[in-house]
Formats: sequence, C-alpha cells, structure tokens
Amino acid sequence: MTDVASGGAELSEDTPAAGESPVLAVDPLLDDPGIGIVVCCGAGGVGKTTTAAALGVRAAERGRRVVVLTIDPARRLAQSMGLTELDNVPRPVPGIDRSAGGELFAMMLDMKRTFDEIVEGHADPARARAILDNPFYQSLSAGFAGTQEYMAMEKLGQLAARGEWDLIVVDTPPSRSALDFLDAPQRLGSFLDGRFIRVLMAPAKAGGRAGRKVMSLGMAGLSLFTGTIGKILGTALLRDVQTFVAAMDTMFGGFRARADATYRLLQAPGTAFLVVSAPERDALREAAYFVERLAADRMPLAGMVLNRVHTSGAARLSAERAEAAAEVLDARKNPAPDGMVDHPAGQDAGAGPGAGPGVGSGVGAGVEEDADRFASALLRVHAERMRQITREERMRARFTALHPDVPVAEVAALAEDVHDLAGLRAIGDLLAS
Ligand SMILES: Nc1ncnc2c1ncn2[C@@H]1O[C@H](COP(=O)(O)OP(=O)(O)OP(=O)(O)O)[C@@H](O)[C@H]1O
Ligand SMILES: [Mg+2]
Repeated sequence: MTDVASGGAELSEDTPAAGESPVLAVDPLLDDPGIGIVVCCGAGGVGKTTTAAALGVRAAERGRRVVVLTIDPARRLAQSMGLTELDNVPRPVPGIDRSAGGELFAMMLDMKRTFDEIVEGHADPARARAILDNPFYQSLSAGFAGTQEYMAMEKLGQLAARGEWDLIVVDTPPSRSALDFLDAPQRLGSFLDGRFIRVLMAPAKAGGRAGRKVMSLGMAGLSLFTGTIGKILGTALLRDVQTFVAAMDTMFGGFRARADATYRLLQAPGTAFLVVSAPERDALREAAYFVERLAADRMPLAGMVLNRVHTSGAARLSAERAEAAAEVLDARKNPAPDGMVDHPAGQDAGAGPGAGPGVGSGVGAGVEEDADRFASALLRVHAERMRQITREERMRARFTALHPDVPVAEVAALAEDVHDLAGLRAIGDLLAS
C-alpha cells in the first residue's frame, strides 16, 4: 500500500494512485436504528439534494419514519415530493410505498420563516413583534447571504428536538464551500456584533458597492457612519435599525446556545455524514478537505457518495481503437479524385439498405456515406466517453490514495435529471448496489 497522505494533503497530479476503497453499505446505514441523522454535504451542484431525497425515499420504503430537510430543491423535484409551500412544516410525501411500515415527510427550508420562528421563540411577544415588523429585519432575514447555513442547522436542531422521526436526512445549502455548513455555528459568535450589524447599517443591499464599502469599515467607524446614515436616511430609519439591534442583542445568548447544541448533535454517534462528490477534480478536492475537517471536528463520517459517474456498455472498445476506426471511416468517405467513391471489393457488406444491387451508384454512395458519417460520429462520442471514464477513474484513485479508508458508493450518471419518485428510487437502487 502507498503512504497515506493526510491532514491537509492535496489532490495533486503527484498523488499516488491507490487500490480500491471499501464499499459504502447504504442499506445497513439506513436501517440502523442507532442512526438518527444523515447529513449530505459536498461542493455545489454535485447532487446533495438529489442524494438526500433519494435516501429519504429509500429509508421510508424500507420501513423507517423519515423526514427530509431539503434546501432549494429544483422545482419539479419539489413538486413531485409534494413540496409546494414554503411554510417550514414537514409534509407527508405522496406516493411512498408504506407497506414496510415507514413514512416520508419532506420540507423545504425557508430561511425567512425559520428566522421568524427563532425570533418568536426567543423574545417576549411585544419584542418579537417589534423585530418582525422592523423593515430592516424583513429585508435582511429574507436574503442575507450566509444565514442559510445557520438556518439549516437551526432547523435540524428543531426537528431533532421534536423526536417524531426515526431518521432525519439533511440536505445542505449550495454553499461556496462545503465547509460553510460546519462553520456556521462558530461564525455565529461574530454574527451580531460584526459583519451582520455592519451590513444592517449599509444603506444599499449588502451585495452592492456601497454595502461592500460599509462592510470594510471597522467597528470604530460605525458611530461616525451611523451619524452619516442618519442624515441621509432620516433618523426614523436609523431608530429602526437601532431598535432591531438592541432587540437582537438581548437574544444573542439563545442563538449561541442552540447553535452549540446542534453542533454537539452533529458530533453524536447517531449522526452520519455523507460527503457527496462528482468524479471531478474540484469537487473531490473539496470532498477531501471535508473528510479531514470532519475528523478534526470529531464528526462521524459514514462515507462518500460519488455521484454522476460515467459508464459505458462498450468499455472493451478503447478510446484509441474507437478513434482509429472513426478515422478509417472518415477516410473512406473522401471522394476519389475522379469524383467516384472508392469501393474496394468486400467492403460494402452492411453498408446500408441503399447499397443493394440495382441502386444507382451515386445514391448508394450517398446513403453509405451517411451511414459512415453516423458510425464515425458515434465512435468519436464513444472515444470521448472512454476518455472521460479514464479521467474520472484517475481522479477517484487520487482521492482514494488520500483517504483509503473512506467507504464509497458510486452512482452512475442517469440520462436525465432526477425530478420524480421513480428517479429518486433509481438513484436509491444505485446507491445501495
Ligand atoms: N446521478 C445523477 N444522474 C443524473 N442527474 C443527476 C444525478 N444526480 C443529480 N442529478 C441532477 O443534477 C442536478 C444537480 O443536482 P442537485 O440539485 O441534487 O445538486 P446539489 O448538490 O443539491 O446542488 P446545489 O449545491 O446547487 O444545492 C439536478 O438537476 C439533478 O437532477
Ligand atoms: Mg441542493
């Protein structure tokens, strides 16, 4: 076995290839009564939401009472799971086979609604009303980047506290980095007294030029700035902001305590993290970092889901041979110098129906040329697919060399997007096979 690089090791060109990684046994994981939370995390766009939903369907149809917490599912997928409203209430998913005694609920995370619920749960009714009615709070809670990870954590804590489900499957937000989800609770420490407040004071949207400028001001500049903003926006608006800040400040302890509790929940043995990745360099690099980070945070990793892996039914035909055959066909279709197509004896077999006797040579050659062109194009597509498979295998081998003990479940790339229960079941079957 190769030396195993670890602790910040990179997926690089020099990383030695390793042997096979262990296979992630998905069904035993889903059936394990000791597992109460499965968290699907990974880089953007790799299939976290799809995997979470597919695991939810599979666990429910194997007999568990499951809730899936999804974040921004594609519209059609959401509809097929009965998720038509953003109301932060888990809804039963229609069409689930309940013969094994299980059940599936799903909910879409609504950031603003979750935020509101926290305010309501942490402040007395009058103060909660003051915050909820505050225009700054309203625009902020709806869209402040970075709160989504925290909200996902918060919602997970709430669902777990209800104790109504055997298994909670958690999707994570489409973060810039997979680590954002884990960083969210710690970041909360500076949530209210740092960036949050400065954005709050920003006259424009947080993402705008003015917002960025304000964010770059230190706290020292804040009082000077509030004087200026007061002049520009009027003191009423400024008072709004200050009321909001004061109210949020008194609740800060509550936020922090809950985030800490959820963090501990993630470390508990009843939690299983699944790192979802595509067989691509960037996604796998992120997956590798995430694996290391989970170990550092003492969070239980169950394994990796390698999603959208390409396969070929004709893998015995190499890229090189397919390419060479395509070249032969391409050469054949070049007309001879006198305008006649070159038909060496014995090469006409299987050239297509138009090539039969009695057909004028011009027409026959045309049909044959079409067939050749088609075959050549197919061969080149196949060659490209085989090269992609090779690239994917190489990337996977590098990950395995860094983390040889991480069990992997491979899921083939389906021909179509996954947008209904049948698609989710197909993904579930692939996950468990
Ligand atoms: N194995 C697969 N075969 C075919 N399509 C897939 C597969 N897995 C996921 N998809 C499709 O890829 C797209 C992205 O998947 P998904 O939304 O699950 O990714 P995500 O990691 O949740 O993305 P984000 O980071 O934006 O939240 C979806 O359209 C989904 O249907
Ligand atoms: Mg998603």
